[in-house]
Amino acid sequence: MFLIVLLGLLYQTKSIMYQIKRHLTIVDPIHDIHQVEYRVQMQFGSMKQQMELIIDTGSSDLWVPSIDAKGFLNYVKRYDYKASQTCIKTDSRYQIFYDDGPISGTLAWDQVWMHNIKFNQSFLLIENASGNIASSGGILGLGFHSIAANPYPSILESLYQQKLISKKYFSLYLKDEGEFGSYILFGGIDMQFVQKDQKISYVPLLSEYQYLIGIEGMSIDDELFTITTALVDSGTSCLTIPAIAIDDMLQVFTAKGVQCSYKVENYAPSYSTVHCFVDATHEQGIIDQFPIIKIRINSTLELLLNPQDYIYSCTILDGSQSKCNTKLERSEIDDFLLLGDAFLHSYYTVFDQTDKQIGFAHSINNKGLKLHVKTRHLISFAHMLILYINLLLIS
Ligand SMILES: *[C@@H]1O[C@H](CO)[C@@H](O)[C@H](O)[C@H]1NC(C)=O
Ligand SMILES: *[C@@H]1O[C@H](CO)[C@@H](O)[C@H](O)[C@H]1NC(C)=O
Ligand SMILES: *[C@@H]1O[C@H](CO)[C@@H](O)[C@H](O)[C@H]1NC(C)=O
Repeated sequence: MFLIVLLGLLYQTKSIMYQIKRHLTIVDPIHDIHQVEYRVQMQFGSMKQQMELIIDTGSSDLWVPSIDAKGFLNYVKRYDYKASQTCIKTDSRYQIFYDDGPISGTLAWDQVWMHNIKFNQSFLLIENASGNIASSGGILGLGFHSIAANPYPSILESLYQQKLISKKYFSLYLKDEGEFGSYILFGGIDMQFVQKDQKISYVPLLSEYQYLIGIEGMSIDDELFTITTALVDSGTSCLTIPAIAIDDMLQVFTAKGVQCSYKVENYAPSYSTVHCFVDATHEQGIIDQFPIIKIRINSTLELLLNPQDYIYSCTILDGSQSKCNTKLERSEIDDFLLLGDAFLHSYYTVFDQTDKQIGFAHSINNKGLKLHVKTRHLISFAHMLILYINLLLIS
């Protein structure tokens, strides 16, 4: 999910409106659409009710559906705040507009547990939802507090204020779709998820509000397709590329014998998924006909994606042709690249709010080539491995 920052949109003292883009889908091999999202378990209230929240670096609010909520799908778990003796529900109303529909509710306080750590935490108790957002059972926004609708400390702020972490940062290791064993680590970096002999390369953030970095573009061979910024967003499934760059990139695919086309899904008309047809009998094999894609930060730092990293699945159609669904997506909007889960599967990523930087290292999950780094990066890692959370993968 990425946030369009509308800091001026402060309506009344008690109501704040934010526009958030939510986009969570990926094409699955059996031409169905299914939703892929990474969730974390948290317990709420005196009865320790278990909730499963989507991990989202593209937004900053923590919210759960209230027991009184209208509009959520039946299977979505609601938080029964009435059963919690410690819950304080306020009258302050908030509304957040997602791409997939609006949510609204009130600010509440309660004790919550993350792993074994207890906080007195404020969050939004959502009473209304409509559109696709109604299938979400809550979100844990891990973006900057400055763009949260809720003015009180976020989870990351709470961890920091309670001195449970020494620095406001966390790192994310995501396994592929359908696999268990993804982790988020608050206040630390775990090098076991990084490929041997790889270092973490840090890139400064461009914005004080978002995990936004400056890039030069994407390249195939030595051809560069200019894109000036990239947003790192665990709430987006794909690698979402602006139309201006992907249209030209796919021409390079065509020149290599890979014919791609777009498919617009009606749930998200400003995005389209990319699928490609290749020769199934080619001596190189199916996957290796696809090029290596590089995300060029600058002339000395490039993040490499192998075909294995960005192709979701391939099926042989008639013995001579194969159809591959990719994790690439075309976006009609703006000049920025969205580095979603498709990218995060391949790179262990450190989100560092204190030093305003993002670190990337080839994850053990990455299928092939190494990070292309010609310079040294002398940043030392503060190790304070406090909170280790096993993410649940719900698909
Ligand atoms: C949590 O914090 C709120 C606001 O400071 C306070 O009113 C409430 O009593 C606290 N709750 C608990 C259980 O400590
Ligand atoms: C939210 O729910 C309340 C109570 O059911 C209702 O009165 C109100 O119209 C709803 N608001 C929206 C925006 O749907
Ligand atoms: C490229 O980016 C990295 C990471 O931000 C930085 O350390 C390095 O100095 C940059 N190199 C050039 C030539 O700008």
